[in-house]
Amino acid sequence: MALFSGFSKLNREQRIDYIVQNSLLISSDAQRFDDYCAPEENQQRVYSEMIENYIGNFPIPMGVVTNMVINDETFIVPYVMEESSVIAAASKAAKFWAERGGFKATVPGMVKKGQVHFTWNGKPQSIKEFFPLISKKLFEATNTLTEKMRQRGGGITAIQLIDKTEELPDYYQVDVSFETADAMGANFINTCLEKISSEMQDISELNFDECRVEIIMAILSNYTPECLVRCWLECPVEKLEGWNKELSYNTFATKFKQSVDIANLDISRAVTHNKGIFNGIDAVLLATGNDWRATSASAHAYASREGKYRGLTTVRLKDKIFTYELELPLAIGTVGGITGIHPMVKNSLSILKYPDAEKLMMIAASAGLASNFAAIASLITTGIQAGHMKMHLSNILNQLSANPLESEKIRSYFFDKSVSYTAVEEFIGQLRRKNDLNK
Ligand code: MEV
Repeated sequence: MALFSGFSKLNREQRIDYIVQNSLLISSDAQRFDDYCAPEENQQRVYSEMIENYIGNFPIPMGVVTNMVINDETFIVPYVMEESSVIAAASKAAKFWAERGGFKATVPGMVKKGQVHFTWNGKPQSIKEFFPLISKKLFEATNTLTEKMRQRGGGITAIQLIDKTEELPDYYQVDVSFETADAMGANFINTCLEKISSEMQDISELNFDECRVEIIMAILSNYTPECLVRCWLECPVEKLEGWNKELSYNTFATKFKQSVDIANLDISRAVTHNKGIFNGIDAVLLATGNDWRATSASAHAYASREGKYRGLTTVRLKDKIFTYELELPLAIGTVGGITGIHPMVKNSLSILKYPDAEKLMMIAASAGLASNFAAIASLITTGIQAGHMKMHLSNILNQLSANPLESEKIRSYFFDKSVSYTAVEEFIGQLRRKNDLNK
């Protein structure tokens, strides 16, 4: 296929046509792009203007986890999720814990950071002496940019110089701390950083003849260890009775602790353990229009902060009390970005009773802990496949284009049997052959 320039100048229909003309899609399948357009023109425009080279909408199911009690308040939590059984498992955990005091959560801090990365080829001492003299000017340079944010309780809270010359010759950072109220704040932070960097450039040109400040880049950091949420579950060990009939509460608690300890010492298990946490967190972040790539990158770096990648949860069994805790950075917002324009995000925020950013951090973290608790509890008892494949049966039925009568027969046949694609395919084949013979 020849390289193409000007694709972005085409309209949506022309872009789809180009894909069809290049034999990458048959035109009857291309029709699907139209099928998934929003019926209202205004709404459709919102989607088409959200990204570049737009060709269509990509539906992902949205469901809710019920009975989520967080700090004594009950929530219905919207999940956008393509994986079956995640919502069922999180709902089971939410109800189980609602009857045992629910989730508790706190946000110790919401500081976000960004850096101006630059080189200085003079003496380290000179820039270190000079910097305190100019930091006031750097604050002032952003005054008009930060005015509205300051009115909302945010703004720049600190500007400091960091000497990195031992790691890279002549390399320094201006490390800037921000509070961004209920916004995730990426645009605000980057705009301020670019202003600070151009101000630094101007000041240094005026003040130094021979030595130079060379700006490399100015950008927020998605690593946000000071924008942290902590949430936990706690109950007397004997109250763990009830998740699984076959396991005593003591054995359940012991195996649970062993599985979390394994995630803390073994990277193979830690990654999967943390993926289970993100089943809940990312589903809420998608539903509320937040940047889940940024938070994932941050949390995985946080999981490695001691030089070894670990599970993000810890468990304590002390004085016959079971405590299970999740702590992770989560820089998210409830205003700005697509929160005000995506119709489903508006619905999610309404269902969540319009939380502020701090509360949304606690909700998302609790969703993560619910998913993770359910996963571990299943893994140490029945295994996850039993529940998972039962839920996956719907997908298999759809893949095999089962009609309602076939679906009913298959569901009842597999009620007490293990589900696999091959077993269902074989069974539906038998049904269809029998049906043909009877015709
Ligand atoms: C599947 O989406 C998530 C799990 O693998 C998580 C885990 O193993 O803890 C079940």
